[in-house]
Amino acid sequence: MPTVKILVIPGSLRTGSINARLAAAVAKEFALAGVDVTRLSLADYPLPIYDGDLEAKSGVPKNALNLKRMLGAHHGVVFVTPEYNSSLPPLLKNAIDWITRVEDGNETQGQVFRERAFAMASASEGKLGGSRCLAALRLILSGCRATVIPNQLALSFADQAYDERERLKHKADSDALRGMVTQLIDVAQQMTRGA
Ligand code: FNR
Repeated sequence: MPTVKILVIPGSLRTGSINARLAAAVAKEFALAGVDVTRLSLADYPLPIYDGDLEAKSGVPKNALNLKRMLGAHHGVVFVTPEYNSSLPPLLKNAIDWITRVEDGNETQGQVFRERAFAMASASEGKLGGSRCLAALRLILSGCRATVIPNQLALSFADQAYDERERLKHKADSDALRGMVTQLIDVAQQMTRGA
């Protein structure tokens, strides 16, 4: 069986982003688990806000195709996203929307979501850790008929969550992180075997 390949996608481009910071911790945990992990930045895949007229005129932007192919090159994908007004930020929603519009060779629209495993994490300075955003994202991914693992991480009080070595310092958080990582690897392996 090939080494499991995991893609980590932060849903924020902000300098000093607490979700980019969590994405780094997530990627590190996958590396410790011995899988091949890649972290991308959506800054490298700029996309216009989805517009049906634009799509009809110019087609799906190349960056949406490139992003879809990045997902397609991995067995599992983790979104690490801020919560904006109880939901997900437009940066991430827009990227998902465009990816669902891609047709690539023999692949149908949205096939990339149906054929791999997904996990979700969020970081917030608030008490809920972005858990409402995760509920919204789970609904969206389920609508894409993606396999979204049950384990997730909503990191509360994210500004105070790390030790001096940039590890999650509270047991509940580090357990949730490990639980998510282990489950995503298991499910991704099962889906690879079943393919
Ligand atoms: C927020 N923030 C926020 N936080 C939260 O826990 N629940 C929420 O509903 C919201 N809503 C919200 C809306 C908008 C428009 C902004 C700009 C911010 C705060 C947010 O979690 C905080 O700014 C994070 O630092 C954003 O994540 P990054 O960019 O640091 O990763």
